[in-house]
Amino acid sequence: MTQDELKQAVARAAIDYVVDGEIIGVGTGSTANFFIDELGKIKERIKGAVASSEATAERLRGHGIPVFDLNDVERISVYVDGADEITASGAMIKGGGAALTREKIVASVSDKFVCIADGSKLVQVLGKFPLPVEVVPMAGQAIMRQLVALGGQPKLRVKGTEPVVTDNGAHIIDVAGLAIADPVALESQINQMPGVITVGLFAQRGANVCLLGTADGVKKLT
Ligand code: 5RP
Repeated sequence: MTQDELKQAVARAAIDYVVDGEIIGVGTGSTANFFIDELGKIKERIKGAVASSEATAERLRGHGIPVFDLNDVERISVYVDGADEITASGAMIKGGGAALTREKIVASVSDKFVCIADGSKLVQVLGKFPLPVEVVPMAGQAIMRQLVALGGQPKLRVKGTEPVVTDNGAHIIDVAGLAIADPVALESQINQMPGVITVGLFAQRGANVCLLGTADGVKKLT
């Protein structure tokens, strides 16, 4: 199976977690896009969705799924999203698609986080994938110096010659070279740096369920 077929398989499996008549939290990225396409097929069963990015909102609307502002929603039972890396206990690195802040916000108000990923995303120790950190642009250099002191190799994410600008008007620093032995502690430590909006460690509130696409079928972790 190709990586896209594995992503499609987990996206399909995640439909089992959709609660009829409710508003679903929806993540960002290529795996989340497959989930949105599956959601489009059963859209009459749900009230709508809260999107974790402008790109996701646009794709949801393209399928005729109503998109709600989070401020107008009291609770979300299920949030479905991909990950860049995930451990067997559900700690994740996210933010490869630069949507980490809104992803963390929507996940934080959801009862259940269902992570959907192809098998290549499962790791024993987080950190091979460079850790994304969304920052206020003026704090970029100061934050990079602190990330170097932690043993990382930070790099401003660029597109062409310009910094990538997130949906929140901020920048992304990608930190290579971290072997993250204690993701819960590192999440707090980086979040406390002035100017950090969000670190792409989702460990304090990790995934409740992980659906992993493998050659032997969809495996459920956690
Ligand atoms: C976006 C994310 C994505 O969930 C993560 O990058 C995985 O993406 P993909 O499903 O394309 O592999 O965190 O900010």
